[in-house]
Amino acid sequence: MTSEESRVVGTISVASVAFLVVLTFIGKFCLFCLISRVHRVGFCGIVCFDMVVPRNFRMLEELERGEKGIGDGTVSYGMDDADDIYMCSWTGTIIGPQNTVHEGRIYQLKLYCDKDYPDKPPTVRFQTRINMTCVNQETGMVEPGLFPMLANWQREYTMEDILMSLKKEMSSPQNRKLHQPPEGSDDQRMEQKDLAQRCAIL
Ligand SMILES: *[C@@H]1O[C@H](CO)[C@@H](O)[C@H](O)[C@H]1NC(C)=O
Repeated sequence: MTSEESRVVGTISVASVAFLVVLTFIGKFCLFCLISRVHRVGFCGIVCFDMVVPRNFRMLEELERGEKGIGDGTVSYGMDDADDIYMCSWTGTIIGPQNTVHEGRIYQLKLYCDKDYPDKPPTVRFQTRINMTCVNQETGMVEPGLFPMLANWQREYTMEDILMSLKKEMSSPQNRKLHQPPEGSDDQRMEQKDLAQRCAIL
C-alpha cells in the first residue's frame, strides 16, 4: 500500500467507528453492550443490536432520577416500598401551578407500573381529590382516553413525563378555573396494602 492509500483506509476506519459511536449515542444501534445501567456508555467491544432497555434497568434509572429531584421541586416521585423487587408501586406529588385554582395545593398520586411497563403506561390515580377533566371523579383515576400521554403511550415516556404533563394540564384553560373539592380531602379508597398485594402476584 502506498502511504496515500493507507491514509485513505485510515480515514475510512476512523470515520466508520465515529459513525457507529454516533449511532450508539443517539440510541439507534449498539456498538457497546448493556453492561452499564446507563446503557449508552457500557463498553464490551461486542456489536449488539438490542437497544431495548429491559424493564428493571429502566425502573432503576427512573428511581435514580426521582431521588435526585426534578426541576424546581414542584413535581416529585419515589418508590413506595424499597423492598419491592418489581418496583411496581410509586407515589408522585405535584404542587399546583401558580395562577390557577390549584396554586399551592399538594396533590398526591399513585402510579402503578405492572410487568408490561414501560411498553404499556402505568395506571395513574389521584389520591388527593381533584376536579380535572381527565380525572374520574369517583375513583381519581386519570382516564387514558382523556389524557393523550397515556392514550398515545410511547416507551420513552417516563413517570416524570406523566407528572409534568399533568401539572401542565392543571394550567390549561379547561382546568385552571374548575371548582375544586375542599382541601385536605384525601381519600383512602385503595390502601397501600392492596397495591402491595397486586404487586406480589405479578
Ligand atoms: C368540577 O367542575 C365543574 C365545572 O366547574 C363543576 O360543575 C363540578 O361541580 C365540579 N366538581 C366538584 C367536585 O367540585
